[in-house]
Amino acid sequence: MNHLLTVRNLPKPSLEGLLESAKMYKSLIESGRPVPQTEIRTVGLLFFENSTRTRVSFEQAANYLGYRHVNFSGAGSSIKKGESLKDTVLTLRASRLEGVVIRHSASGMYNVVVKYFEGPVLNAGDGRHEHPTQALADALTILEKKGQIEGLKVAIVGDVANSRVARSNIWSLTKLGAEVRIVGPRILMPGHTDKLPVSVYYDVKQGIAGADVVMALRLQTERMDSGLVSLGEYRRLYQINRQTLKVAAPNAIVMHPGPMNRGVEIDDLTADGPQSVIRQQVSNGVFVRMAALSRAFDQEETPS
Ligand code: CP
Repeated sequence: MNHLLTVRNLPKPSLEGLLESAKMYKSLIESGRPVPQTEIRTVGLLFFENSTRTRVSFEQAANYLGYRHVNFSGAGSSIKKGESLKDTVLTLRASRLEGVVIRHSASGMYNVVVKYFEGPVLNAGDGRHEHPTQALADALTILEKKGQIEGLKVAIVGDVANSRVARSNIWSLTKLGAEVRIVGPRILMPGHTDKLPVSVYYDVKQGIAGADVVMALRLQTERMDSGLVSLGEYRRLYQINRQTLKVAAPNAIVMHPGPMNRGVEIDDLTADGPQSVIRQQVSNGVFVRMAALSRAFDQEETPS
């Protein structure tokens, strides 16, 4: 059994193994060949926070693998009557679920599931901390578009402080050999950037100059004090659009993990333009989640 909790603690060979596995599943599905069916597993999808992409792609990944899945959200459950996460997890275990995918607004909450569930646990996004399967989808997309990650310049632009996607991508892309820059206003930069393997830019044009990959992040207003950031000012200084992209490498790709605030961190023409790989990121989300689910039930444990 294998958990997938963070990219930070995931050794490079495990990261590469997941990407290879995702490529294999993508090739099978796109060519219409059958996915090898293994033992049927029942997986609980616990989403305590809203999601479209991650939830749907985990469901679709489970469908392709021939697994059963059970959806569980905080709303409508006995959590609303005061039941603890520990008792919820023990209930799921007693109901014979075999694996758990969890999204939670609190960083590190997956540890409660790891402690009491006994089976494999996959982190589908925890607070501001990590979102490992999004980073896998992003790495696969970059590999497909650029052929390699080693040596690429990647600029992650925007609300880095509140972004679990940024954190997982920083660890994943630097392990795979990219040079990662984080770009944004001081107020949206994480504390202790000196402890991250990145360079920090407060000017968007300096930050994305020559970048092979420009990744815009959503302004996560739900995690900010109201009025902290002026949307108009943010748009003027940090929006990814045709003007700002002029300084990136000529064949730069534009990414966004979604959901997008169109017209704020990215404009429509860029989001839907020829450099955008945003829909490919979503498609690849299915294949990396197939890889993560199937690895979860491997007899052989891989370091994680
Ligand atoms: N990127 C991402 O996690 O999107 P959702 O919140 O829609 O799952």
